[in-house]
Amino acid sequence: MESKIEDIDTQNLPRHMAIIMDGNGRWAKERGKLRVFGHENGVKTVRSTVENCVKLGIEFLTLYTFSTENWNRPKIEVDTLMRLLVSSLRKELATFSENNIKLNTIGNISALPDKARCELLEVMKKTEHHTGMTLTLALSYGSREELQSAIKSIAAKVKNNIISP
Ligand code: IPE
Ligand code: MG
Repeated sequence: MESKIEDIDTQNLPRHMAIIMDGNGRWAKERGKLRVFGHENGVKTVRSTVENCVKLGIEFLTLYTFSTENWNRPKIEVDTLMRLLVSSLRKELATFSENNIKLNTIGNISALPDKARCELLEVMKKTEHHTGMTLTLALSYGSREELQSAIKSIAAKVKNNIISP
């Protein structure tokens, strides 16, 4: 069933919404198309989700866009996803400015292809002064990695006598 923005109780909204993007491949398969087609159409859904969150006044929107496990997909699919990331960032910079959206990322950004990383850093820099919704893209992100890096940084603080065990 399709839900409408008008049906949402605006008096009872979360400050932060996080969405796990999933089902692009299945969506395409149901239509007899390649997975890539699903990813391309997924971008449109992301766009309308972002726009609706802005309309509703959501403060933080986090999109789980690409997991650490997603690197194990066929190269052609990973390349397509990275290409879509770059082209979407380029296209949406104007939308970010019009809507006062600040772009942020979490995950192992250093693992991304140079082109994607550079585009991300550039758009983040250009939107850092925006005070509206913060849009966070989780890229090359995994909860295991996040826990690991948090524990490493705590261990380093203990080792350097900044905090006690
Ligand atoms: C989510 O859809 C998109 C990304 C991972 C970027 P999937 O690619 O996981 O699609 P399904 O789950 O195989 O249908
Ligand atoms: Mg999936």
